[in-house]
Formats: sequence, C-alpha cells, structure tokens
Amino acid sequence: MRLEGKVALITGAATGDRNALMGIGGATAWLFAREGARAVVTDINDALGKRTVQQMREDGHDATYIHLDVTRESEWEQAVQAAVATYGRLDILVNCAGDAAGSEFPVEGTTRQAWDRMMDINAKGTFLGMKHAIPHMKTNGGGAIVNVSSMHGIVGTFTVTAYQAAKGAVRILSKAAAIQYARDNVRVNSIHPGFTITPLTAPMFTRPDIHADRVAGVPMGRMARAEEIAAAILFLASDESSYVTGSELVVDGGVIAQ
Ligand code: NAI
Repeated sequence: MRLEGKVALITGAATGDRNALMGIGGATAWLFAREGARAVVTDINDALGKRTVQQMREDGHDATYIHLDVTRESEWEQAVQAAVATYGRLDILVNCAGDAAGSEFPVEGTTRQAWDRMMDINAKGTFLGMKHAIPHMKTNGGGAIVNVSSMHGIVGTFTVTAYQAAKGAVRILSKAAAIQYARDNVRVNSIHPGFTITPLTAPMFTRPDIHADRVAGVPMGRMARAEEIAAAILFLASDESSYVTGSELVVDGGVIAQ
C-alpha cells in the first residue's frame, strides 16, 4: 500500500480495460489503486474511461472518471475542482495524456498545425495541469507530480519533430516547476519511456518491419509493457522518492545510454 490515503489524478488514463491491451495511463491508474490510492481517471475517451473505472470498482478500488481534455483550461478547472470535491484533497498528478500522430516528419515537413497540436496536447496540457493542481497541493502541505515525457524528449531522431519539441518542453518545464515549488514540498519529476506497446502505438509497433527496426536499437532487445512504465511512475509518485525532485527517470531498456 505505497499510496495509502493519497488522491491521484491521472490524465490520458482511459486505457485501463483489463480485457484489452493497456496504455501507460490505464496501467498507472490500476497500479495506483492497488497501492491504496483513490484514483481520478481522466481522458477524452469517456466510454473507455468509464469502463475502466467500473472494472476498478468491481475489484474493490475507489476510482472516479472525469472527462478532461488536457488542452482546455476550463476543463482542467472543473476536473480539479471535482476531484477535490469528491475526495477532499489532491496529492498526486500524473500528466500522461499525449499523442505523436501527425508529427512524423523532419523540420521541413512539419506543418504549423502539427506543431501546434503536439504542443497543445503534450506541453500545454502538462502546464495547465500543474497550474491548477499545485494550489491544492500547497494547501495540503505537499504533493507529487509526474510528467510523462519520452526518451525522445532527451535525444533527437530523424522524424517526429514537433512531438520531440513538445516532450523536450515537458522535461524542462518539470525542472522549472520542481525548483519553484520545492519549498512547498511539491515534487515534480519527468519520466522518459522508450518504445512501449500500448493502444496508441500497437498499430505501428506490432508491424513486423517496424518492430524489428525499433528493437534492433534497444540494448535489452525488446519493447516495454505499459506496466513497466507505471512501476517507475509509482516510485516518483510515492513517498519513497521523498528527496527526488527535478529529476528525469529514463525507462527505455538502455536506448539512450548508447
Ligand atoms: P495510450 O495508448 O494510453 O493513449 C493515450 C491516451 O491519451 C488515450 O486514452 C487518449 O484518449 C488520451 N488523450 C489523447 N488526447 C487527449 C487530450 N487532449 N486530453 C486528454 N486525453 C487525451 O498512450 P500511451 O502510448 O500509453 O502513451 C502515454 C504517454 O506516454 C503519452 O504522453 C506518450 O507520448 C508517452 N510515451 C509513450 C511511448 C510509447 O512508446 N507508447 C514512449 C514515450 C512516451
């Protein structure tokens, strides 16, 4: 029970249907609940999010679904208010919602629309989440924020230009917030997954040619499961990492150590 008594809001967490492949947010919601947290599952995929929460409740967990498009500030205000109204506090925020679709180009092929979309979902969403969660954490006497960046928020590639820029923004934004709120006992860290098979990536990563190409660059010789990323998020969200702030945890099977 590493999160006993804590209230955690997780974005992009609808992908927790236990009868299907889970995403990082969905796997994190389940793991947090098993560790004693009250889980506020948020997403734009309401049908899947409600199914996930229903399954969590059937298993005896305390979970609530709230619609939240992370790009909309008014929805952040409502979601955080609703979480606090339901559970009385907010201890943990995991900014997991993200997307890379439409950004698969080098600089010259990247449109302004793709740039704006990547910045909105990945970077602005994370900024807005912190902006609206931090006041409640300060009121509580502290909190933990885990922002999901990517190994591609640290090293460059030949494509996904706008996605990389946005995930790089998440990385340094996390450090800025960590410094700004350290004295408030609000810890902020970023996590940098490598290739992980999830509902978002499965259509691409399970294609034999793409799978072989990506895995060839992974020292551990395989892709990650969402549960392996969730385990690292749990560490940063729990009191076990009580002296860790402004850090970046790479969970990539060794890719960027090369
Ligand atoms: P996933 O399969 O869980 O899908 C993303 C979820 O985000 C979906 O449920 C979707 O409905 C939701 N979402 C999309 N736009 C949203 C918005 N505007 N507001 C709220 N929710 C929204 O995704 P996955 O692969 O588990 O990725 C989770 C995070 O991990 C993302 O930030 C992704 O960029 C990051 N990541 C994933 C990697 C991978 O290989 N799967 C590698 C590195 C980082």
